[in-house]
Amino acid sequence: MSASSTITVDDKQIDLPVKTGTIGPHVIDIGKLHAKTGVFTFDPGFTSTASCESKITYIDGDEGVLLYRGYPIEQLAEQGDFLETCYLMLFGELPTPAQKADFDYRVTRHTMVHDQMNRFFQGFRRDAHPMAVMVACVGALSAFYHDSTDISDEKQRMIASLRMIAKMPTLAAMAYKYSIGQPFVYPKNELDYTSNFLRMCFAVPCEEYQVNPIFARALDRIFILHADHEQNASTSTVRLAGSSGANPFACIAAGIACLWGPAHGGANEAALKMLMEIGTPDRVKQYVDKAKDKNDPFRLMGFGHRVYKNYDPRARIMQKTTHEVLGELGIKDDPLLEVAMQLEQIALKDEYFIEKKLYPNIDFYSGITLKAMGFPTDMFTVLFALARTVGWIAQWAEMIEDPSQKIGRPRQLYIGPDKREYVPISQRG
Ligand code: CMC
Repeated sequence: MSASSTITVDDKQIDLPVKTGTIGPHVIDIGKLHAKTGVFTFDPGFTSTASCESKITYIDGDEGVLLYRGYPIEQLAEQGDFLETCYLMLFGELPTPAQKADFDYRVTRHTMVHDQMNRFFQGFRRDAHPMAVMVACVGALSAFYHDSTDISDEKQRMIASLRMIAKMPTLAAMAYKYSIGQPFVYPKNELDYTSNFLRMCFAVPCEEYQVNPIFARALDRIFILHADHEQNASTSTVRLAGSSGANPFACIAAGIACLWGPAHGGANEAALKMLMEIGTPDRVKQYVDKAKDKNDPFRLMGFGHRVYKNYDPRARIMQKTTHEVLGELGIKDDPLLEVAMQLEQIALKDEYFIEKKLYPNIDFYSGITLKAMGFPTDMFTVLFALARTVGWIAQWAEMIEDPSQKIGRPRQLYIGPDKREYVPISQRG
């Protein structure tokens, strides 16, 4: 593609610069389009629009490729741990052993939450959805940690980032414990990040708790797989909220709210519920037919992706992780897994799914794995939020540190009534 692209508006030709990234499609810079022609572009859902420049994550949806700072997700998930991915996200490079030890120490030092948070929790109903609790508690961190909300101070930005990465597991575990009426378990900092989280979720004060290393490794991998996914809905929400100068805790709370939706982070919960509803492999075909029926709004949860039009690379790793966890539990013939396998096989061979490039996504397998570990379905999206926090923070920081950054302000195509005169209420009706 040449360095510029030409558009004709009302017989007037305008040259628009074309920008080139390291890899991936070129983008046409339309920043001056309105000033030069008086028109806007129209792209609801941002299907053809790049909203920013970013150095963090790259996805090739056609090839099924996902890179964090250039490193393939498969290599990070197989060979590294989650805090290493966090370091990579925040600083752009993999840490040396000394940098890693220092980073682990700094994150670990922030795992406790202000003790007054305990009282904050008491205000929620017992049956509150843990995502509702997370939105509120993460937003409330800005009230508890006011000393790290000045976004113009680089040091405060880093402290807020470390606090959120460190405290998210503690808050997530507290949300779970509160919902089942068990006492909160304080973090134990001699444990690694993910083992510490498992302990805070599943230990009780009256018994010793041994972290299962296979579960800890599997969950750590799930966290790596969910750490970032470029400009998805929740990340774009965080960036948009942050573009106004809002504090980082409030921005991440906005991201959590967006993630909650069933088309985004809520899909793993929805996928598991669907597998349970299908129940047995012989009913799979009936559900596949239902998903294909134009007159039925039903969709196969855990299938399809806005960007991946090939097998989601995260789904492959997740499938392997699922088998490891079920193998550890001695579950060889799990009915849910059987339904999942059958569904995957049928859908992958079906003309409808092939033609529309609908492949299983990460949520298809993550629900089965998390359930086997003992997490209730309404905690699934919370775990996603925990893992995605580092991606949100890295994207937020990248935006704040960009000198050309300005407040996000999309335009619209107005289709409401034209200008009209106000009629006093006595003359209406
Ligand atoms: N089952 C059946 N048909 C589907 C499905 C599905 N899961 N997904 C898309 N389609 C059809 C859809 O009906 C449409 O058909 P037509 O062209 O005949 O109208 C076509 O495929 C394109 O669908 P779309 O909704 O225009 O595509 P999209 O890119 O806007 O949607 C999606 C992406 C993920 C929202 C959608 O595939 C979906 O609803 N999937 C189920 C929910 C799910 O698993 N979400 C998790 C996404 S991954 C997690 C994350 O990264 O956050």
